[in-house]
Amino acid sequence: MAGREAGEMASLLWLLVWAAGVIWILVLGTAVYATGISRGPVDDRVANVMILAGGVFLPTLVLGGLVTWTVWTMSGLRVPDEQGLRVAVSGEQWWWRVAYEGPDGNPVASANEIRLPAGETVTLELSSPDVIHSFWIPSIAGKMDMIPGRVNELVLEPTKPGIYRGVCAEYCGTSHALMAFSVVVMEPDAFAAWLAEEARPASASSAHEGLALFLENGCGACHAIRGTEADGRVGPDLTHVASRKSLGAGILPVTQAALEEWITHTREVKPDARMPPYDMLPEAEIATIAGYLASLK
Ligand code: CUA
Repeated sequence: MAGREAGEMASLLWLLVWAAGVIWILVLGTAVYATGISRGPVDDRVANVMILAGGVFLPTLVLGGLVTWTVWTMSGLRVPDEQGLRVAVSGEQWWWRVAYEGPDGNPVASANEIRLPAGETVTLELSSPDVIHSFWIPSIAGKMDMIPGRVNELVLEPTKPGIYRGVCAEYCGTSHALMAFSVVVMEPDAFAAWLAEEARPASASSAHEGLALFLENGCGACHAIRGTEADGRVGPDLTHVASRKSLGAGILPVTQAALEEWITHTREVKPDARMPPYDMLPEAEIATIAGYLASLK
């Protein structure tokens, strides 16, 4: 487990499994005793004691203990840290919109990847503009629904640096199964350095021929690349797209070839994706645009 919440839920699960195992053996043992070994009438007093012990005292003790342990564990989870990091995550058909608060207080947009500092309590503000999605990073915390028209807060504390997989856990349309994301848990210093870098405008030259083609073909109406004229809000922000772990929400690697594949065969890669394929462009132009995007580290 790489998160406090997932760790505590796993401990609770194993406690319930063991307790259920012991109870199962006790019940089965008693049944075997009653049907096989014991013959003839049982003394009334012995029967009464067994009914009281097995039917009242033992269940009260065991169930009371398990309820207490459960309530105690759950009350320690999902307690927000008012000063802590907040990240807004919106589930959309079929990708993830992510926004951090930058070092200067302005929002920093990203997509399909969430970076978090290890050992800190983080509050994720979960929402959706279209249908119900469900946000789940199994190794770090329990899942929570993303419901149109409201913001659900998921509090979690990642404990171990590493890269984890997150998924959408609620059927949300054709490409529900193609809606994943990476969670990169970093040491707090490295996270702060990364966020400062992420807040910067695009690094590539604004004279790049790929940018001119990107704008000419209208890509900037849906996608933003900070520091350029592209400021669309419909699709993922591409300012640092090449620094992410995947393309298309966890389905393709971030390479020039994959970018070309995405631009020309969008709906084969992701059925019903909102982005139309741009296979009408000459191959050389697609390669130039993909080359530009692949340089946006
Ligand atoms: Cu989003 Cu399933």
